[in-house]
Formats: sequence, structure tokens, C-alpha cells
Amino acid sequence: MQPNPFGLRGFLIDAPDYGSLRSRRDGALIVADGKIAEIGDYDDLRKRQRAEPIHWIDRGAVAIFPGLIDCHAHLPQYSAVARGESQLLPWLRENIFPVEREFTGPKAREECPLFFHELARNGTTTAMLYAAIYEDSCEIGFEAAERSGLRVILGKMMMDLGSYGQLQPKKILSVSLIESERLCRKWHGADNGRLEYAFSPRFAVTCSEKLMRSAGELAQRFGAYLQTHLAENREEIEKVHHLHMSARDYTDVYEKYGLLTPKTMLGHCIHLSAREIDAIAAAQSNIAHCPTSNLFLGSGLFKLDQLLKAGLAIGLGSDVGAGPELNMWQVMRAALDVQKVRSMSEPALQRLRPSEAFYLATSGGARALGKSAVIGSLDAGKEADLTVVDLTAVLPYGKQGRRFDDLSTEDIVALCIYRAGPHANLETYVRGKCVYRASEAAPCQ
Ligand code: GUN
Ligand code: ZN
Repeated sequence: MQPNPFGLRGFLIDAPDYGSLRSRRDGALIVADGKIAEIGDYDDLRKRQRAEPIHWIDRGAVAIFPGLIDCHAHLPQYSAVARGESQLLPWLRENIFPVEREFTGPKAREECPLFFHELARNGTTTAMLYAAIYEDSCEIGFEAAERSGLRVILGKMMMDLGSYGQLQPKKILSVSLIESERLCRKWHGADNGRLEYAFSPRFAVTCSEKLMRSAGELAQRFGAYLQTHLAENREEIEKVHHLHMSARDYTDVYEKYGLLTPKTMLGHCIHLSAREIDAIAAAQSNIAHCPTSNLFLGSGLFKLDQLLKAGLAIGLGSDVGAGPELNMWQVMRAALDVQKVRSMSEPALQRLRPSEAFYLATSGGARALGKSAVIGSLDAGKEADLTVVDLTAVLPYGKQGRRFDDLSTEDIVALCIYRAGPHANLETYVRGKCVYRASEAAPCQ
């Protein structure tokens, strides 16, 4: 049994606002009943008089960060990462639909617990995910998410055009709606809101008008999330243009069918016009920037400055399996690289800084999910979602190298972005509960 309350000692680092880091070198958190009860300098908190003794966890040279937030990934696709060399549409057809088609029954039962263990091992505490089209793939996903202790938003993939399932086309739509509603009724808000439902129309290429409208209505009726893909690839955009000749642009399709809401997460959003950006901002919809995926599929370079300027809430997504890994530090690194590449041909462009990429993976993701009051930064009163990183594992020469006392907060964030991952993650907490500990082979319960 985990002690309650308990104290964690380390170098506390968070990014409550875009562009600024907050830190406490020899800091500490007191976690009680799943929340950050107190935050301060270790010496002060240790000396404070309390009714109950504190069980202290002191792992030496560690940084304690808010848990990382992955705003977009596909549960069934992890086994297919790094596969294929084509762009989006042929890649989906050749590499992804065959894998998703098998993601049901024993296969889903085997992989789902492994997937959530991998998330926790990477320091990810919140993930917004797509299942496959089958009801059981989503049900099994939720059951595994429930056991994992992670914060998960998940939905059954919806598609009724060119789907990979066995159902007759006429039946696909009604079955998809019935199953999605049933899953939402069962899981949305489970375990005091740790698990939530996202209606998940794949994208305008594989969804009929009726499916998109109905998904929007259902999400509104249940106060659930919506997630879809938007403007990821030129060929995809062309296809949508031909399917929806009367729409002003791709975004207009989603606008018309009620998919742009404050609880909508739009994956990618690479090729948007000024009108589309304004429409998304007016609807207060949110964006998952997926740089590792966009590089893998050669989809394009995300115009971060333009979307931030419009006031949009942006988080980061691993987009596994187009993104090759669940490690959100690598996703931050790719976000930096993408803006660096853009600045080579647009010299006036400000580069993205490590502190800003770190914001996107923590507070930015929380804002994009409407959860700023609950997670994303290290503040007393917020839920204790944390990742504890061993700094000796990211320093060149490890314990023999530079002492971490010599490093600035910015240095540490940059070192983690360029060098952290599962090998450096010691512990992951969600709501104060340890969901991963490196010293244990299995997830701690
Ligand atoms: N667009 C529609 N489906 C998908 C998917 O599974 N992955 C990515 N990257 N883009 C998509
Ligand atoms: Zn995706």
C-alpha cells in the first residue's frame, strides 16, 4: 500500500505559461488524497509541524515534472510503427487498416495492457486515443485503461466509407452510432472522471455526412469529447474537396456537420488557410500537433506561430503509429526541429524554444483538453500527475559527469527533450498513485 500523505523531493520544474519555466531546485511536493497538497522548498516542508508524519521519497538527483500529455494516438497501431514509406492515404491502406482490422478479441486483450504500461513507462499520464472500429476493441481498451490507473480519453473509431470491417455498408452507420453511444454511456466519466469518451469520426474521407452529424449530436448530448483528423496531407485535402464540393474548405465540412466544438481535438492541422484558422478559433476547438508523425509521413511543417497567434489551444500528440514512439520528449524534440526547419526558409520566424515545447506537452495539452484546472502544472490543489526523471540518466557521463547543481532550469528541460525517455523515467504518478516504477518489472498497483 502506498502511504498517504507522502512527500516527493526533487528539482521541481513546470511551465504554467507559454515561454516561461518555473522551478525549485531542492523542492518538494506533499501529495495527499491524490492531490498536490503542498509545494515548497524541501527544508521548509520537512520542518513543518503536521498532525501525520510524512513518508518521504527521495531518489537523489531527480527532476519532478507534471505528467506528460499525449493529445493524439491510435491504440491499435503501436505494433505497426515505423512501417511503410508512403504518404498518408496509401500508408493507411497498406499498413494501418490491415493492423486495425485484426485489433479485436484476443489480440486487443493482449496488446491493450502493454500499451498503457508503455505510456506510463514513458512518463505520460494523460492520453487521448482512438480504438479500432470494433466495440470490443474500445471496451477492452477502457478496461485496460481502468486497471492502468492512467487518465485516458478514448473512442471507438467511426468510419462508414471505405471501412475495413465485415459489415454490409448499409448497416455500418447505424451499428457505429449504437456502439459508440453504448460505450459512451458506460465509460464517459468513469472513476470520477479519470476515463472519458471521445466520439471519433476518423476523417472526412471515410465518414458520411450522416455519420459526422450524428457524432456531433451524440458528443453534445453526453458532454463528451470529439476527435478527428484535419488537413494533414495534400492528397487527403483534394479528396475531401471532391467529396464535399459545396464546402468552402476542409474545415467547413466539420463546421457544417457540427464537429467544431470546445471539446473537439483536431489532429494535425498542417495545411490550413487563414479562414480555417479563424473558424477553428471562433469555435474554440483545439489542436493536437503531431510532429513525429508529420515527419514520418512527410505530411508537412506545422505553422505553429500562426495557430498560436490566433489564440488556439495546442497540445502535442505522438500519433502512434504514424509517429514512431510514445516518448513525448521525442515529440517535443521533433516540434523544435520542425520549427527550426521552417526558420531556414523563413528567417524572420522565431524559433521554438525548449521551454515552449515543454509547455505544449504539459500545460498546453491540459488547456487543449479543457483540464487546466486539474492537471498540467505543479500547483497546490491540482491532481498529482507527475513524472520523476533521473537526471544522471540524461547527463553525458552520468554520475561521473557535470553535477546537476551547475545546470540551469532551461538546461535541464533541454537535456530531457533531447535525451530523456523510458530509460530515465523513475516513476509516474496519476492522482498521486504510482502507476509505474522503474525498479519494478510490472506496473505498480
Ligand atoms: N487520418 C485518418 N486516419 C489516420 C490515422 O490513423 N493516422 C494518421 N496519421 N492520419 C489519419
Ligand atoms: Zn491520428
